[in-house]
Amino acid sequence: MPPLSVFSTRDAMMTAAARAIAEALRFGIATRGAACAALSGGTTPAPAYRALAHMPLPWKDVTFALVDERFVPNADAASNERLVRESLKEAFAAGAAFAPMFSGGTPAEAAAGADAAYKALQIDVAVMGMGNDGHTASWFPGAPELPALLDLGNPRTVVALTAPDAQPINDRLTLTRAALARADRLLLLITGTEKRVRLEAGGAPIDALFAPEMPPCEILYAP
Ligand code: 6PG
Repeated sequence: MPPLSVFSTRDAMMTAAARAIAEALRFGIATRGAACAALSGGTTPAPAYRALAHMPLPWKDVTFALVDERFVPNADAASNERLVRESLKEAFAAGAAFAPMFSGGTPAEAAAGADAAYKALQIDVAVMGMGNDGHTASWFPGAPELPALLDLGNPRTVVALTAPDAQPINDRLTLTRAALARADRLLLLITGTEKRVRLEAGGAPIDALFAPEMPPCEILYAP
């Protein structure tokens, strides 16, 4: 596991996260003319996204994608799309694009649609989180699909799964590890001692982020 970059406050950590995402997007724009950040939802990252939205970037060259999604319409309070659209509203108003995962129908149909769209994206940076059970993305320890999600030979970019222990929604859409392996860099945001202890204990799906086949992962931590 890479060393943690430790911040004394969550505010300082969120500012650093926003700067790191902006730097990755600027690099993508400078080298390819366009850039993409894949973002996690949950309760942790919104302050970083809000700080990012106020940074001076050519937003029309940026696409925001998701690391994972809860299988709910985007008006639902649990929707990661909703979280991203709200916390980055200034960037979207300035022309940033969004690549949804949820599109209605069945979870398998939505996953197939997102899989095709996401295959066309070059992810400059993926912003990861971790649950207290050691999951990242929607790679839940108890999910029957876990081995396929972690298989670097999986041809799928986005898949659907039902995770018995996932909160608040069991039905999920998620990037596979094979998809994240093609990203340029990973940024993992960890807050609170309980998560730090879980991360450092090992033996959880999140360990799969740190394999040598994966892109460099920077871990930002604040208590
Ligand atoms: C989701 C996420 C997920 C998240 C962790 C941490 O939709 O649930 O994308 O992987 O990053 O569950 O969530 P918290 O930030 O709420 O602790």
